[in-house]
Amino acid sequence: MDNAGARTSADLEIQDRRSGRSYPIELIDGALPAAELRVIKQNPDDFGLLSYDPSFGSTVACRSKITFVDGERGVLEYRGYPIQQLAENCSFLEVAYLLAEGTAPTAAQLRDWQAELAQAAPPRPELLNLIAALPTSAHPMSTLTAAVAAMGAVYSDARQISTPAERRVHAIRLIAQVPGLAAAAFRRHQGLPVLDAGGNLDYTARFLELLFEPGRVQQSEIVRRALDVLFILHADHEQNCSTSVVRAVSSAGSDPYAVVSAGVAALSGPLHGGANEQVLEMLREIQAGQDLEAFLAQVRSGRRRLMGFGHRVYKTYDPRARIIQQVAGQVFEVLGKNPLIDLATQLEQAALADDYFVQRRLYPNVDFYSGLIYEAMGLPAEMFPVLFAVARTTGWVAHWMEAEADPERRIARPRQIYTGPHELQYQSPS
Ligand code: SDX
Repeated sequence: MDNAGARTSADLEIQDRRSGRSYPIELIDGALPAAELRVIKQNPDDFGLLSYDPSFGSTVACRSKITFVDGERGVLEYRGYPIQQLAENCSFLEVAYLLAEGTAPTAAQLRDWQAELAQAAPPRPELLNLIAALPTSAHPMSTLTAAVAAMGAVYSDARQISTPAERRVHAIRLIAQVPGLAAAAFRRHQGLPVLDAGGNLDYTARFLELLFEPGRVQQSEIVRRALDVLFILHADHEQNCSTSVVRAVSSAGSDPYAVVSAGVAALSGPLHGGANEQVLEMLREIQAGQDLEAFLAQVRSGRRRLMGFGHRVYKTYDPRARIIQQVAGQVFEVLGKNPLIDLATQLEQAALADDYFVQRRLYPNVDFYSGLIYEAMGLPAEMFPVLFAVARTTGWVAHWMEAEADPERRIARPRQIYTGPHELQYQSPS
């Protein structure tokens, strides 16, 4: 690779003015293979060039067949199917099968899938006891992080992950049990006993039965279908922060429960899955009397962010936000309109007409409207990211299985630019 001037079929030619050498570089699938930069050295015994990308915004971390996102065009596809089609025509169970198994299920496969998940669904008593031992004041995302990690302590086969069959056992357990752990976290947070749910129930219907006492309006078909669609929309989103964490932890060979609990922990952050909770707090604060324009002025000054807006990849409307707005209308017909929806719509319209947001290409994302639906369903704001985690568990599990099956996968280990001192002389405390 390292020869001055020789012509190759290279896509790029990097000219190093420090040494006068030039380096032909071939792109891989349109991306620059960063390892190729290592041949570029100022001196022969140098380590070679590294690329600096602290938040990985310009870094391709892996190849994946699971989800495609085009942030410029607002496109989201799971296994090649546009999200609008899946939200319109599928159950979450079907989409979970599509993401985890890689193909759309036949009717027989879907029946078996539902039965397999229902059988694996009841959490082990040790996990429910763990949740019951935590304070009711615990944030449900902290409880869920602990409970999912504890699955690795409870299941003696947790570290048996070397074959696809072994990995599938854990995949089924995680997709099946996280809703029960999430519901138990909610019930604990409310100081209420856990509930049982019927047998071979649809995934989302079962979750609602674990959240709310029997016969509650939340278990209406319209609410069940709305939550099913929300789960579809939140199921995966390529290499977002939490999924990247899942892939990084799995690269060390850790057990899948530690891997997914790391995903829950990352998702809990207010800039990620915790944003839906922050949106409600922000809307309540504005409703309580802060003038909308005064709020936007604070955002423009950089003193605060408009939560539920902006995205690292989408530089246009998040396609999921549009669908969630439609779902909100359907749910409010059954459960009553959340009064904050009008303020949210007003805030969106004001922001989309404001140069600050237009210049930065900031649009509503998946978190802007979802919390309004969850609140109308009777859930407290701290449960909103938990519902995100229930849905995203399927995406994390799909990426975990894909990464584990990659024979070329190596442990994730980025480098750094060291900015500290060298070779100091240590003086022991006298
Ligand atoms: C999710 O990655 C995924 O796919 C995530 C997700 C998924 O499905 O997994 O889609 C789910 O996490 C959605 C995002 C939820 N988070 C929020 O709604 C929190 C509010 N949004 C931001 O904090 C922000 O937009 C992020 C975190 C989402 C993206 O951050 P970036 O890409 O690092 O953007 P940035 O911080 O570089 O911002 C660029 C500019 C900055 O202004 P300048 O320094 O250029 O003047 O835009 C500004 C930012 O200050 N900006 C915002 C803003 N988001 C970005 N200003 C006000 N309000 C905001 N929300």
